[in-house]
Amino acid sequence: MKYEDWQIITVDKVASTNDTVRDYCCEKGQAIALRAIEQTSGRGRRGRVWHSLKGNLFLSLAFEYKPENIGKLVIVSALSLWQTIKNCAPTTNVKIKWPNDILVNNAKVSGMLLEKGEDDYIIIGIGVNIKQAPENKDILYPATSLANEGIVTSSEDFTPAFLQIFSHYFNILQRGEFAMLRKMWTANAKGIGKKIFVNQENIKKEGIFLGIDDDGCLLLNTANGKKKILVGDVFYIEKENDVF
Ligand code: BTN
Repeated sequence: MKYEDWQIITVDKVASTNDTVRDYCCEKGQAIALRAIEQTSGRGRRGRVWHSLKGNLFLSLAFEYKPENIGKLVIVSALSLWQTIKNCAPTTNVKIKWPNDILVNNAKVSGMLLEKGEDDYIIIGIGVNIKQAPENKDILYPATSLANEGIVTSSEDFTPAFLQIFSHYFNILQRGEFAMLRKMWTANAKGIGKKIFVNQENIKKEGIFLGIDDDGCLLLNTANGKKKILVGDVFYIEKENDVF
């Protein structure tokens, strides 16, 4: 995939770009990047609301991709977003929080929602707090914005920068070189080798974060042995006596 292959569409106001992008992908081999200036019903992972504040990025990509390799694509998407933000601010602390959140100075600045589209289409929804961060008490993890952290960009400029990097890493994936991408993801992820909690539907698992496997799953060394985790929310233990 080349950057030039993307059909970039900008719309004024939609409920969710992940839904609207479905209306645009119909021809075989098409790659659509749909950006909305305003989003009124943003959706987050695991049925949560995504607070979509003015000036932030609401972008959804749709392209053909075999659903069985989705775990690898999650890793590639996160790495691309990490790289785009890091390029804006090379000396700032930018880390990946499994599976695909980006933390700037330890607060969440972005989120991604991957969904299956028609046929073999995949939809990657990307939200980046460019100008503003939600202050609501109902958010799961402390949030920030690029602007709050002194990183000046706009959703308009961020979109092509991200697509360039995503296309590059996606090509590496398609060449079968996932191992290299996994290495880069791991080098820039927060908490590897440390004790973490992973919250799942009704259970909370605790253990040492060993890394990720070839499916993008989190590997957790728990008291009951090594576990492979497909979905969940990670929490770090910043201080030894932090209670969750
Ligand atoms: C998360 O829970 O962290 C994922 C948030 C994903 C938000 C983005 S904003 C663009 C796209 N449209 C949506 O409705 N959600 C995603």
